This record gives sequence, C-alpha cells and structure tokens, in this order.
Amino acid sequence: MVNQTIEEPLDAYWLPYTANRQFKAEPRIITSAQGCYLTDSDGRKIFDGLSGLWTSGLGHQQPKIVEAVKQQLQTLDFAPSFQFAHPSAITLAHKIASLTPDKLNRVFYTNSGSESADTATKIARGYWRQKGVASKTKIIGRIKGYHGASWGGISFGGIGGNRKIWGQGMDADHMPHTLLEENRFTKGMPEYGAHLADELENIIALHDASNIAAVIVEPFSGSAGVIIPPQGYLRRLRQICDAHQILLIFDEVITGFGRTGSMFAAQEFDVIPDIMNLAKQLTNGVVPMGAVVCSDEIYQAYMDTDKPIHDVELPHGYTYSGHPLACAAAIACLDVLQQDAIPQRVKKLTPYFESAVHSLQGGKYITDIRNYGLAAGFTIEPYSKSLTQRPFEIAMAMWRKGFYVRWGGDTIQFAPPFIVEKTQIDDVVTALADVLNQI
Ligand SMILES: Cc1ncc(COP(=O)(O)O)c(C=O)c1O
Repeated sequence: MVNQTIEEPLDAYWLPYTANRQFKAEPRIITSAQGCYLTDSDGRKIFDGLSGLWTSGLGHQQPKIVEAVKQQLQTLDFAPSFQFAHPSAITLAHKIASLTPDKLNRVFYTNSGSESADTATKIARGYWRQKGVASKTKIIGRIKGYHGASWGGISFGGIGGNRKIWGQGMDADHMPHTLLEENRFTKGMPEYGAHLADELENIIALHDASNIAAVIVEPFSGSAGVIIPPQGYLRRLRQICDAHQILLIFDEVITGFGRTGSMFAAQEFDVIPDIMNLAKQLTNGVVPMGAVVCSDEIYQAYMDTDKPIHDVELPHGYTYSGHPLACAAAIACLDVLQQDAIPQRVKKLTPYFESAVHSLQGGKYITDIRNYGLAAGFTIEPYSKSLTQRPFEIAMAMWRKGFYVRWGGDTIQFAPPFIVEKTQIDDVVTALADVLNQI
C-alpha cells in the first residue's frame, strides 16, 4: 500500500543531500504529483520549478509512461542483466542510439548519473589499456562540475563542499570553471571566455597526455547553478582532446533529452563527444536509470580481443542495469519526447523564459542570472558569514508560497517541466520577485 500519511516519526530516515536537522524541524513531505504540480502533506499544490530533480520534464504521471510501466510489470518484472537480455532493453538501446549523434551507437545501462560517471570513466581507462596505453588513467574534470556522489563523481567533480570531508579520492585534476565576472547577466551563451579551454593544455603539460584517459564536462553545469559554456569553448576542448588523444566525455545527465531545446546538448552546441552520460530525464524520473553511450570505436576496442569467446570483455555492470520497468518507462518517455516534438517546444519557449528570468535583473540580492533552454540560475548575494543561507531562505519562502525551486551554494535554480505554460513561468518569476523584496 502507498503511504500517504506520516504516522511514524522521521528519525529513522537519513535524507540524502539534505540538512536533516532543519528538515526534521520543518518537514516538507510530498504525497502526490500530477503534471507540473506536487501536492504536499497539507494538501497544498506546489509548482514543480525543478522538474523533480531535473528528471520530470514531461510532467508527473505522464499517462503513456504510467501505462508502459504497468504493462511491463505484468509481463516481465525482472530479468537477469548479466549474460541475458530482454526485449525492452534491446529496443531501448536502439532507440537511444538512433537519437544520439552519429558515432555514439553503443549503449551501456546504469541506474543513475553517478553510476554513469563511474562507468564512463572506467570504460575510458579500459579503452586505453585495450589500445596498449595502460598509463592513460587520469581523469580531468572541471571546477564546479557535478557528476554525482560516487567516488569517481566526487573525484573529478569540482564542487568543494562535496569533496572536503572524504579525503583521498580517484586520480583527477580540474580545469577552471567558466563562470566569469565579465559575463554576468548574459542571455544564453556568453561570447567571451573560450580561451578558458586552453587551460587544458596547461594541465596536459603538467601530467602529460600519456597519463590522461579522458576529460569529463557537463555541456552546461546544472548543479553549480546553471553555468553556460562560452561560445567556442566546447569546440576548443574537443580540438585539444583530439590533438592529444584524450577521450571527451559529455555528462548530459541534465542537458540530455530536451532541456537545451535540442535532444542533446552535443547537437545543440554541435560538438560530439566520444562518450555521453545519461540519466534523469531518460525515464522522466519514473524509474531510476542511467546510460553511457559510447562510440563504435570504443566498443570495438573491447571486442577486438584474443580472449576466449565465452570471456567477458568489460567486467562491469549492475544487477539492475537495463531493468525492465526502467526500459519500459524510457521507451515511452522517448516516444513522447519525439512524437510531441518536446525539444522543439523547449526551443520555442526559450526566448519567453529568457526574458522572464532576466526581468529579475536589478532585483534585491541578485548578482547574476544565467539561462539556456529551460534552465536558469540566479546567483544570490551572500550574507557576510554564509554563502548558502540566503538561497535557502529564498527557497523556503518560495515553498511557503507554493513554488519549488532548488537552492545550492549561492544559487537558486529554476528548470520547469518542458510542458510548462507561459503563465506558469510568469507566476514563478513574480513569486521570486516578491520573495526577494520580503526576505
Ligand atoms: C550532470 C550530472 N551528472 C551526474 C549526476 C548524478 O546523478 P545521480 O544523482 O542520478 O547519481 C547529476 C545529478 O544531479 C548531474 O546533474
């Protein structure tokens, strides 16, 4: 039975990425969700201004996805993922490969963005070993990058608060972020800053390309507050990686499946990586799932082996890789994204969204606004002693008003469902303007 009431005390539940002491003093319990709205345990309707956690662009309870999962559950609830396959896993792999850029045709399933980060970097390191260059092991990430909470994710991720209490992680180094003072309040992609990609040359000079397996970046950073790459920056990264035989991994866990106005940021920004990481919107958030999509060349390097045919080429995978329910949800989700031309809808809405969010320029405490597609980040002037307190206060005031927006570091993030209406964008922006005046 689905638990819709809170009968138990909260103490047993240790919430992830949550201030547990504050939460337990002032709980925010979501009991149901439909379309663009969440309902909380007081029966209040709350606008979902982050599409769940960047997961649910098609809105909650999307009927075709609900139906597909129900049908799958009644047909095949689980199949062993090692050494066996099932029809939905095969269909979905083909579907993903048909949507991703040309050379990205080999789909490996994971269950989350963090697992995608680990999987992609393991595949990259193994690839070089297959090619006879076992020294290429280091992963280069970027300051302010987020790739999840696994050891890999926090090692090449670049958010200090996620790293500082853990000690030694994986072998990694970091390029500078692209959040520049000069670009404050830029709409869309900043013109200035492509030169920051050249910092990769310095990192290569330090470690030597013979020791570097891959560079991993989010095409635009989401969790650090929606940081948009300067024009030409990603292309430059691609050129440098090619020149030094380093694989380029795009973490499209947030940017994938429509958020930018194209199916993938790789297509929107016209830069094709060797490996693409996916999760979140892949199933509309309905069932946990991620995927790592590799080039034919990488896949082939693993297949070109003199191991006996019954030997495993890539000793990696998860019990729930390609879970039938996740595959069913993903197939339905991708069908809706395509049939309802959702990325095109996002592209059409982008100018409206952009001017709505930038209308807050000049608002109290707003020191920067950035946007791309249906994603926006606001930097909030900190209290002298705390970077994070004011965004938290803003988000709580928004919650009380009936709007969910995400807060993190010194930022507020707004990423509504792809099905959002213009009036709903206006409502969030008006509420945020009011809150900024009131707090
Ligand atoms: C770009 C990116 N990569 C990876 C992750 C980690 O995903 P998960 O929380 O599913 O492990 C996230 C989560 O926000 C993300 O934004």
